[in-house]
Amino acid sequence: MTYPRKHLLAIEGLEPPHIADLLDLAESYALLNRSGKTQRDLLKGRTLINLFFEDSTRTRTSFELAGKRLGADVINMSVSTSSVNKGETLLDTASTLNAMHCDLLVVRHGQSGAPSLLSQKVDAAVINAGDGTHEHPTQALLDALTIRRHKGRLEGLIVAICGDIAHSRVARSNMHLLTTMGSRVRVVGPPTLIPAEAARLGVEAFHDMKAGLAGADVVMMLRLQRERMSGGMVPSAREFFRFYGLDAEKLAFAKPDSIVMHPGPMNRGVEIDSAIADHPTRSVIGEQVEMGVACRMAVLDVLARGLRRNV
Ligand code: ASP
Ligand code: CP
Repeated sequence: MTYPRKHLLAIEGLEPPHIADLLDLAESYALLNRSGKTQRDLLKGRTLINLFFEDSTRTRTSFELAGKRLGADVINMSVSTSSVNKGETLLDTASTLNAMHCDLLVVRHGQSGAPSLLSQKVDAAVINAGDGTHEHPTQALLDALTIRRHKGRLEGLIVAICGDIAHSRVARSNMHLLTTMGSRVRVVGPPTLIPAEAARLGVEAFHDMKAGLAGADVVMMLRLQRERMSGGMVPSAREFFRFYGLDAEKLAFAKPDSIVMHPGPMNRGVEIDSAIADHPTRSVIGEQVEMGVACRMAVLDVLARGLRRNV
């Protein structure tokens, strides 16, 4: 295993062998999970704290499951009932948790860079579970693992990421991971939702679904992140669906064996039609959630090995 860092704060900066090793380890956890076995001795005696300043269903639950399957003591801190409400700062909250000798700190925060700031203040290994519009590294890992399981590789695949790219940390982490691993990445959406940095990352931008999806192996749909938008960056939901919502007609532009992905939560009828989201052969959305647990087990495993070295 070649993972070089104490923390997992971003995909940006990781090299192909680091990503490939994490995915291989995650694949072995996916098989273990399907067999119903656990490895409860691996993180025995370690404490994992989930610190989520933003809402989450999948990420928080799967980190909890991943930690428990590896034997860690897992604590879900409820930020909405914590002393953050009494004016305690992020850094003071972190020092408090640090004093309790937490080993692994999983952080989601609305400000880009918050997990990185915390990582400089605590002894624990910090995992970014989504920070502002910056990155969501474990989401990109689980997406890559899901793609690899269906297509056998990442290199050379055409991956179209569609919708609200500008506000999406999922898109950003995926652009970094997939371009690093040799995929041909496209972003598809209205000009107001495509960030200028796409070109810098070697990603092709399209404003038309027909052109953007033509010949794609993977179609990844994203939610409109209205909570991060200032003003009317998109027309009505109905109009957005007409031009950018994935339905059978638009999916027909992609390869006949292309897979459909969505990180969740979905807004059905806005960025994706229900018939496509629930499609029995094309949609891999449920498998993404399953791979989320496996990838988070791999990340916890690798970071805990680093902690052992540091002891
Ligand atoms: N759940 C993902 C995130 O937290 C995507 C989304 O919320 O649309 O970034
Ligand atoms: N994909 C994702 O991060 O989902 P949650 O916001 O539910 O954790």
